[in-house]
Amino acid sequence: MVQVNYLVVAAVLAAGADAWSPTNSYVPANVTCDDDIKLIREASKTLSDNETSWLQKRDPIAAEALQSFIHRAMSNFSSSSFVETLFANSSTVPKVGIAASGGGYRAMLSGAGMIAAMDNRTDGANEHGLGGLLQGSTYLAGLSGGNWLTGTLAWNNWTSVQDILNMAYNESDNEIWDLDHSIVTPGGINIFKTGSRWDHISDAVQAKQDAGFNISLADVWGRALAYNFFPSLYRGGVGYTWSTLRDADVFKNGEMPFPISVADGRYPGTTVINLNATVFEFNPFEMGSWDPTLNSFADVKYLGTNVSNGSPVNKGKCIAGYDNTGFIMGTSSTLFNQFLLQLNTTSLPKFIQKLATHYLTDLSEDSNDIAIYAPNPFRDASTIASNYSQSIVESEYLFLVDGGEDLENIPLVPLIQKQRDLDVVFALDNSADTNSSWPDGTSLVATYQRQFGLQGNGMAFPYVPDQNTFINLGLNKKPTFFGCDARNMTDLEYVPPLIVYIPNSLHSYQGNQSTFKLSYSTKERIGVIQNGFESATRGNLTDDSDFLGCVGCAILRRKQQSLNATLPSECDQCFTNYCWNGTIANAAVNASDARASTTAILAASAASGSESDSASGSATATSSGSSASSTHTTKTKSTKSKNGAEMLNAQNIGLFSIFAFVMNFL
Ligand SMILES: *[C@@H]1O[C@H](CO)[C@@H](O)[C@H](O)[C@H]1NC(C)=O
Ligand SMILES: *[C@@H]1O[C@H](CO)[C@@H](O)[C@H](O)[C@H]1NC(C)=O
Ligand SMILES: *[C@@H]1O[C@H](CO)[C@@H](O)[C@H](O)[C@H]1NC(C)=O
Ligand SMILES: *[C@@H]1O[C@H](CO)[C@@H](O)[C@H](O)[C@H]1NC(C)=O
Ligand SMILES: *[C@@H]1O[C@H](CO)[C@@H](O)[C@H](O)[C@H]1NC(C)=O
Ligand SMILES: *[C@@H]1O[C@H](CO)[C@@H](O)[C@H](O)[C@H]1NC(C)=O
Ligand SMILES: *[C@@H]1O[C@H](CO)[C@@H](O)[C@H](O)[C@H]1NC(C)=O
Ligand SMILES: *[C@@H]1O[C@H](CO)[C@@H](O)[C@H](O)[C@H]1NC(C)=O
Ligand SMILES: *[C@@H]1O[C@H](CO)[C@@H](O)[C@H](O)[C@H]1NC(C)=O
Ligand SMILES: *[C@@H]1O[C@H](CO)[C@@H](O)[C@H](O)[C@H]1NC(C)=O
Ligand SMILES: *[C@@H]1O[C@H](CO)[C@@H](O)[C@H](O)[C@H]1NC(C)=O
Ligand SMILES: *[C@@H]1O[C@H](CO)[C@@H](O)[C@H](O)[C@H]1NC(C)=O
Repeated sequence: MVQVNYLVVAAVLAAGADAWSPTNSYVPANVTCDDDIKLIREASKTLSDNETSWLQKRDPIAAEALQSFIHRAMSNFSSSSFVETLFANSSTVPKVGIAASGGGYRAMLSGAGMIAAMDNRTDGANEHGLGGLLQGSTYLAGLSGGNWLTGTLAWNNWTSVQDILNMAYNESDNEIWDLDHSIVTPGGINIFKTGSRWDHISDAVQAKQDAGFNISLADVWGRALAYNFFPSLYRGGVGYTWSTLRDADVFKNGEMPFPISVADGRYPGTTVINLNATVFEFNPFEMGSWDPTLNSFADVKYLGTNVSNGSPVNKGKCIAGYDNTGFIMGTSSTLFNQFLLQLNTTSLPKFIQKLATHYLTDLSEDSNDIAIYAPNPFRDASTIASNYSQSIVESEYLFLVDGGEDLENIPLVPLIQKQRDLDVVFALDNSADTNSSWPDGTSLVATYQRQFGLQGNGMAFPYVPDQNTFINLGLNKKPTFFGCDARNMTDLEYVPPLIVYIPNSLHSYQGNQSTFKLSYSTKERIGVIQNGFESATRGNLTDDSDFLGCVGCAILRRKQQSLNATLPSECDQCFTNYCWNGTIANAAVNASDARASTTAILAASAASGSESDSASGSATATSSGSSASSTHTTKTKSTKSKNGAEMLNAQNIGLFSIFAFVMNFL
């Protein structure tokens, strides 16, 4: 009987009728796979074969678009034969990556404006923006709120921000990013709509658990979020999987950049996240980490399979459908364990606090407050060097948390990998680092420091100053280039890409909305998107009409230096205007520019770090809390998590309170 089921599922898959979850629901299923299939590979700083062959499709398309962008951008700069030479030879074409930071819906919307400014499909982007740069880029990474943005675009057949805006203007049905009502009460005053939405969510999550999989709040969170990202799909894409993108024409044909989402690993038995954490990436082919503490990638399509060192424990039998798109997008944004760490520092109404504390503490005993990937796809992997902790591969579970919790709120780690060979990375920073919720470079500082710590092996990042210098020199008020001179970076492991830092800053709208604002009116949404567009373009090129050409100079810089070539002479002025030149101005800053205090729970990613200059200085708590509380439980793991699910069903009210709690916090 079981065999027959395998065959049926396999037949459906083979027919290619449906590349979604084999059950067409949230529940993963058994499928057949090759007897000798190996579901993990050693990272070893090499790209997967799949990514390499995908790049063969993408490279010529991106090169052509980038060349026309550069032409447009530098059209009134003096001409340089070097540019033509560069693009005439496929091995010298510059490569571009874009990274969108976290910061909740603020980051999603403001980042959307920044991406829109680079997209030639946006109204006005080719006239007063960076239109065409997105078409010329090779990678597009997102983290937390930034991954909601990149995931929404990529997994909706590479839709555009302009299309999403048009839906808002036209008040279309199934509007993407309709945030009029928070995910807590999606029906607004229509409580029946809200109620049935939550019934569907808990049914889906419960069904996954009934099929034998561990669940966590990330399942609930991801399911709830997905209705805003995939409104055209049945129940927000309840059966829509991440690996489905491999079969989408626009991806297969290399017509879009390679999307990547970032999350952090949490070592079993701890609650601390710092720069020693393992940074995970999810791409359409695999998930895993380049870091020495894992050094391995797993095939994302077969997540959920019980494996030992990458081989299915039951030969020829794999699980498929585990990689639900909303679940993975939720994984990059599981902010819940930060609550737990900081709950007592808040000033909430007592009864809500009690409920939330009780609920979350209870869950934390099973680490249910984070995204659980179980069975652990890296179980018994033999890829970690012996002088690093083996705790991740020894655990039954893989625990992932919000990608910003190590303070690296911009997903740069995947894009600075030497093998990806990028010349320039656009770092879109929509973090709320300061008391007034603007960025102050904290994320760049963290990634810079990381290269000198535990995870620094095989990693390089340009020099950046401290946060006070960012504020005092206004490096967070307009785009700034870091690492302009490769000759000054010979002490680093390799020459990293030049970083074009694009901070969220004030233009036509208050783009510094709270991270915890969970509903936006259409007007607010459009306002934040527009302000993002202006942040990325120096006010639609009105603050500096040469900014567009200067972006061209930044893209060409690495190749120009390595080939000893000459750039258009205007680039000298660009580098004077936009490159950080090594000046430090670290005097104290005023209160509104000061870094936000640690009481802000998540945002707090940005806030919880110490001022220490060392890569290991950002720990805020110890793990003793969680191990102490786990001694309270007398139930077995399975009964306990079963009860957890019943609670989800029976106590939607409790869940509402948690979301309401998030929403009301700031
Ligand atoms: C997969 O098959 C095994 C039996 O071989 C069964 O115990 C398990 O419940 C099945 N899993 C799913 C998700 O259907
Ligand atoms: C990825 O590459 C492997 C080995 O080269 C190949 O067997 C597999 O079919 C590829 N997968 C996809 C989705 O292209
Ligand atoms: C945008 O760029 C792509 C790739 O270069 C090109 O095919 C397309 O025609 C452009 N679209 C617009 C509206 O300019
Ligand atoms: C390029 O043109 C703009 C106006 O169209 C002008 O303001 C700017 O100075 C020009 N730049 C150069 C380098 O000539
Ligand atoms: C292309 O550039 C590479 C690297 O600079 C060089 O080795 C190669 O000879 C060039 N090819 C052509 C056709 O010019
Ligand atoms: C900047 O350009 C965007 C996109 O074309 C537009 O929506 C916005 O109104 C412009 N801003 C200003 C201040 O003109
Ligand atoms: C993407 O396009 C395909 C083919 O047109 C369509 O079937 C599918 O529903 C689209 N996916 C989304 C998420 O819109
Ligand atoms: C919060 O405070 C309560 C009572 O003061 C205490 O029992 C609980 O352990 C504290 N929780 C945390 C996470 O510190
Ligand atoms: C570039 O010039 C430097 C010194 O002027 C020289 O050492 C180097 O070999 C040159 N590189 C190339 C690729 O010509
Ligand atoms: C470096 O930048 C600072 C401020 O940004 C400026 O005051 C100084 O003149 C610059 N130094 C050089 C050598 O250009
Ligand atoms: C140049 O390198 C030194 C370290 O050798 C560093 O302190 C300085 O900040 C760097 N300057 C720039 C502009 O990156
Ligand atoms: C990070 O790891 C290094 C090397 O194992 C260790 O010395 C350091 O204390 C760790 N830092 C933190 C914050 O745990």
